[in-house]
Amino acid sequence: MLIKVEKIEKIYQMGKVKVPAIREMTLEIEKNSYTAIMGASGSGKSTLLHILGCLDTPTNGKYFLEDELVSDFNFNKLAEIRNRKIGFVFQTFNLLANMNLFENVELPLLYSGLGKKERRKRVKRVLEQVGLSKRLKHKPSELSGGERQRTAIARALVNEPSIILADEPTGNLDSTSGSSIMNIFQYLKEQGHTIVVVTHDQNIAKMTDNIIKISDGKIVD
Ligand SMILES: Nc1ncnc2c1ncn2[C@@H]1O[C@H](COP(=O)(O)OP(=O)(O)OP(=O)(O)O)[C@@H](O)[C@H]1O
Ligand SMILES: [Mg+2]
Repeated sequence: MLIKVEKIEKIYQMGKVKVPAIREMTLEIEKNSYTAIMGASGSGKSTLLHILGCLDTPTNGKYFLEDELVSDFNFNKLAEIRNRKIGFVFQTFNLLANMNLFENVELPLLYSGLGKKERRKRVKRVLEQVGLSKRLKHKPSELSGGERQRTAIARALVNEPSIILADEPTGNLDSTSGSSIMNIFQYLKEQGHTIVVVTHDQNIAKMTDNIIKISDGKIVD
């Protein structure tokens, strides 16, 4: 099993108040599967995705990623796992405002030790995959919402991660840009990637192999 989560909890501490965001969740995700996470606002979807993406650790419980107990990992080891295995598309894109499209996509490769020529080749290849071969010099503020989203996806793909996690990738897009993003995920699944998307969109959910429904920090279906 690629991902195995056992009775995880996430409790945020707000001063003296404890906010439980994930309550005793157990789940498994197979390699090369396409999974949707659905649920109301505030139900814990982003929190779960951040834990699966090694951006955060659970307060209690165990998370095994390819049989490694990553819930016990420290900050540096988590960063290393993320770099090697995970591409994350954030709910708010998280592109760097002062860098152009090309530089934003190239960024994860700067930590990889690849030479400039190889980096260029890889960036060009992922940009073709997401249908963005123009606008390379544009800053994020000079791009449309759909172009920003595709830039964020290209950045998540450039390290060739086996797992792609996306938080509401079509949330802010019109239906045409939304379906082009959906096609990209479908294609990635065919290429052997494992994909988990948080979505409110029934059309995306229909294309996935599994749907995890969560409510109030718990899996309900
Ligand atoms: N850093 C934080 N500190 C304290 N509470 C938090 C923090 N992040 C999230 N929460 C709380 O945890 C709960 C789950 O939040 P989460 O962001 O996972 O929800 P979500 O399902 O992604 O919602 P949305 O659909 O609105 O994005 C919410 O009640 C939220 O207020
Ligand atoms: Mg969210």
